[in-house]
Amino acid sequence: MAALGQLVAGIAHEINNPVNFIAGNLVYAINYTQDLLQLISLYQHHYPAPVAEIKAAIAEMELEFLTTDYLKLLDSMKFGTERIQEIVLSLRNFSRLDESDKKIVDIHEGIDSTLIILQSRLINQQTGQLITIDKEYGNLPLVECYAGLINQVFMNILSNAIDAIFEGFESAYSNLKSPVIRIRTEVTDNRQVVIRIADNGTGIPKDIQKRLFDPFFTTKPVGKGTGLGLSISYQMVVEKHCGQLQCISTIKEGTEFIITIPVELNS
Ligand SMILES: Nc1ncnc2c1ncn2[C@@H]1O[C@H](COP(=O)(O)OP(=O)(O)O)[C@@H](O)[C@H]1O
Ligand SMILES: [Mg+2]
Repeated sequence: MAALGQLVAGIAHEINNPVNFIAGNLVYAINYTQDLLQLISLYQHHYPAPVAEIKAAIAEMELEFLTTDYLKLLDSMKFGTERIQEIVLSLRNFSRLDESDKKIVDIHEGIDSTLIILQSRLINQQTGQLITIDKEYGNLPLVECYAGLINQVFMNILSNAIDAIFEGFESAYSNLKSPVIRIRTEVTDNRQVVIRIADNGTGIPKDIQKRLFDPFFTTKPVGKGTGLGLSISYQMVVEKHCGQLQCISTIKEGTEFIITIPVELNS
C-alpha cells in the first residue's frame, strides 16, 4: 500500500507540471483569440467588400462558424484542464501515504478529495441514477493523524456505501427512495473527532454484522470484493489511531459507519 501511495504521489507530481503549463497558457490563448477575432470583425466592418481571394478563403474556412466555435472550444479545454488539476490535487492529498509521518490535517479536505476520486462512481452507468452527497460538516479542529491512512479509511467506507446503494437500488423495495450518502462530522467535549458516513443502501443482516471486520470476509462476487477494506480500516482506526470504528445497520434501510479518532495522537 505504501509503494502504491508513492507511485500515485509520483505520477500526480509529474502530471502537475505540464498541466500547469497548459492551464497557464490557455488564459493567454483565450485573450489573444478574443483580440484577433475582434480585429477580424473590425476589418470586416471597415472593408465590407474584400478581394476575391479573401472572400474565397472566408468561405473555405467557414469563418462565421469558426468564430463562434473557437472560443467555445478553448473554454472546454479550460474546463478539462481544471478538472485534471482538481484530480491531481486530490490524488496528492489522498496519497499522503508516508505512513511513518503524522501530520496535522483538515479532515474535511481528506473526505472531499476522496469524494472527487470517487466521483465517476457516484453515477450508475447502467441506470443513470445519481447518488447525492449530503454533507453536514461540523466545526472541526485540525487533527493530528496519519493522513494517508485515514483517507484510505474514507475511501473504503465510501466505496462500500456506493456498492450497497447500487445493489439495493436494483431491487424493488427501494423505488421510493433516492440514493444518498450522508456525511456528518463533529468534535466531542473530550477532544474526539467523530465522522459518520451513512448510506441508504441494502443494509447488513445481523449475522453478517459480526463478521464485517474479519479479513477476507466479503459478500461480493469474485473479482469485485476482496474482503479487506473493512479489516484494514479497522486496523488503521483502532490500532494506528487508538480510535473506534462502529457500524449500525438496518436491513433494507441502510448502514452507518462511525469513525472516532482523537484530535491529538499520543505516541
Ligand atoms: N455500507 C455497507 N452496506 C452494506 N454492506 C456493507 C457495507 N459496507 C460493508 N458491507 C459488507 O461488508 C463486507 C466486507 O466489506 P469490505 O471489507 O470492504 O470488503 P469488500 O468490499 O471487498 O467486500 C462487504 O462484502 C459487504 O457485505
Ligand atoms: Mg470494500
